[in-house]
Amino acid sequence: MEQDKILIREYSPDMDELSHDNIIDAIHSNKNNITYSHKINGRWENQYLSIQFLPQIKKIFHFACKVGKEMIDRSLIIPHKEMGLPMDEFWFNIAMPGESTGWHDHKDRSLLSGVYYLKVPDNAGNINFREKNGDQFREWQIRSQTGKMILFHSNMEHSVSKNKSSENRISIAFNLYALPIDIDAFSDSYSSNKFYL
Ligand SMILES: [Fe+2]
Repeated sequence: MEQDKILIREYSPDMDELSHDNIIDAIHSNKNNITYSHKINGRWENQYLSIQFLPQIKKIFHFACKVGKEMIDRSLIIPHKEMGLPMDEFWFNIAMPGESTGWHDHKDRSLLSGVYYLKVPDNAGNINFREKNGDQFREWQIRSQTGKMILFHSNMEHSVSKNKSSENRISIAFNLYALPIDIDAFSDSYSSNKFYL
C-alpha cells in the first residue's frame, strides 16, 4: 500500500557480521551495567546499556539519522546521556525462546522510531504493525532479519511475534528526535503505559 511506504522503510546498513557479534558480546560482558525499565508479561521489556560500553553502535545511529532525514526531511538525533541529556533513547530487546512483545507505540515526541536486528534466528518472530481503520485494525507483518533496519513513525502501533526458535532474538531499538529538543519531554523512565491489548 502506498501509505506503508510513507510510514515505514526498510534498510540494510553496511555492518558486517563481526560487528553484530561484537555488539552482542559487549551486551553480555556488561550485564552488571544494564538497567531495566519495566516488566511486561513477566519479562524485562527494555534493557538499557550506555553507549560508552558499546561505542560501535554509533555507526547504526549515524545510518538511522541519515536515512531518517531522507524519509521525513528533518535533521534527526538519537538522544543519549553522552550528549548531556537525562535519557538514553535506545535500548536492547532480548527475546528468549517463547517470548513475544505486545502491541505498543513509542513516545509521541520523537518523530521516528527504529529497530536494528543484531540476531534473528529462523522462526524467532517478525514485527507486526497495525493501523485503525474505522472500528477495525488493519494488520500486517514485516520480516525481521539479522542486519535489517526498520524505521517507522513513532506513533505507529507494533508488536513482535513469539520467538519460536531455540535461541535468543536480539535487537536494538531507538527513537529519533528533531532539534530543538524539549528537555521536559524526557522522563526518567520508559513510558510503559504505551502498551495496549
Ligand atoms: Fe517498540
